[in-house]
Amino acid sequence: MIDLNSLKPLDLLGFLEDSLVENGHPWKVFTLSTVDQECRPHSRSVVLREVDVQNWLIRFYSDARSPKILQLQHNPNVSLCFWNPQLKRQLRAEGVARLISDSKAIDERWKSVKNGPTVGDYTTMRAPGSVVDSIVEFVEQNWFCVVEIEISSFDLLHLNREGHQRVAVTPDGVTALVP
Ligand SMILES: Cc1cc2nc3c(=O)[nH]c(=O)nc-3n(C[C@H](O)[C@H](O)[C@H](O)COP(=O)(O)O)c2cc1C
Repeated sequence: MIDLNSLKPLDLLGFLEDSLVENGHPWKVFTLSTVDQECRPHSRSVVLREVDVQNWLIRFYSDARSPKILQLQHNPNVSLCFWNPQLKRQLRAEGVARLISDSKAIDERWKSVKNGPTVGDYTTMRAPGSVVDSIVEFVEQNWFCVVEIEISSFDLLHLNREGHQRVAVTPDGVTALVP
């Protein structure tokens, strides 16, 4: 059970930060929803890479050519959904995304990615989502990008046989909600 009396807004960011260091934590992958130019929603899984607790920021990595990035550039409003089946906790968040443009900040992160197993996620010759005609080709160039999401609110739902619990969390405080 969540102790609603002692829960503080920053605890939610703390939970996300903890998930980065815990091996196989289910909150390491979350569902990110965006909308396209026709206001159609699109959802996909992405890996949580960084959490800045004090500033309510989280970051993930992507290929700058992917449809989600084009959608974010058109409409930066995003919805996130994390699910922890062990604790039976769903964490939803709303926020605004932006592409980090500071080349030094991108290079720092690229250094840690370029020699690792995920380098191919950012170096396909054709953009993600393109039709494959024969094989997927990789090139020296990369389209690695870092997306930062400023979270404005959380909605935490804890499923429990003795009664579900739900809270809305903003930087201003925690409010109990009907589940
Ligand atoms: C477990 C898992 C983790 C993923 N992590 C990322 C990620 O961190 N960044 C990313 O761009 N795509 C990631 N993907 C792929 C996306 O879900 C998606 O298929 C791809 O990025 C294309 O999305 P888009 O067409 O909406 O841009 C992941 C997929 C899975 C199944």
